[in-house]
Amino acid sequence: MNIEVRYYTKTGNSKKMAIAISEEIEKDALDITYNLDKDTDILFICNGIYWAGIDSKVKTFIKENASKIKLLVNISTAGIKKSSYKAMKKIAKKNNIKIADKEFHAPGSFMGMHKNRPNSDDLLALREFVKGVIEDGRN
Ligand SMILES: Cc1cc2nc3c(=O)[nH]c(=O)nc-3n(C[C@H](O)[C@H](O)[C@H](O)COP(=O)(O)O)c2cc1C
Repeated sequence: MNIEVRYYTKTGNSKKMAIAISEEIEKDALDITYNLDKDTDILFICNGIYWAGIDSKVKTFIKENASKIKLLVNISTAGIKKSSYKAMKKIAKKNNIKIADKEFHAPGSFMGMHKNRPNSDDLLALREFVKGVIEDGRN
């Protein structure tokens, strides 16, 4: 099974999430300037919410790599919103990509809110989530 992680970050929170995933899947945490080089059974896409939406660079990455993504798993942080899943689901639908029903979200530090989040507990929970997704993928 080929499992990959990519992230887009403005302030570092999505990178933290991607590094935790990379440790679990034993693959580098790469940002979205790195296209997928082969078919990917599970892609963990780590992203944040900016001005109530997902950054257009993430949309472009998904579009350009769509044919290689077998299952997209959304991993988000945000200051106020509870998740970027709804927006990511729209992007997946537009590009004919299967998106997992399961997602992971943690609060992300933003202008004095959610200090140090995602924190070590968030990252531990994320690693458990990743294990579960991979286990599901094997069955
Ligand atoms: C320019 C900017 C705009 C943001 N707009 C929103 C927003 O509209 N809604 C929200 O819930 N959080 C918003 N946030 C907070 C981010 O979603 C949150 O800090 C997230 O963890 C950022 O992830 P990153 O560190 O990977 O960039 C914004 C943050 C920035 C920097």
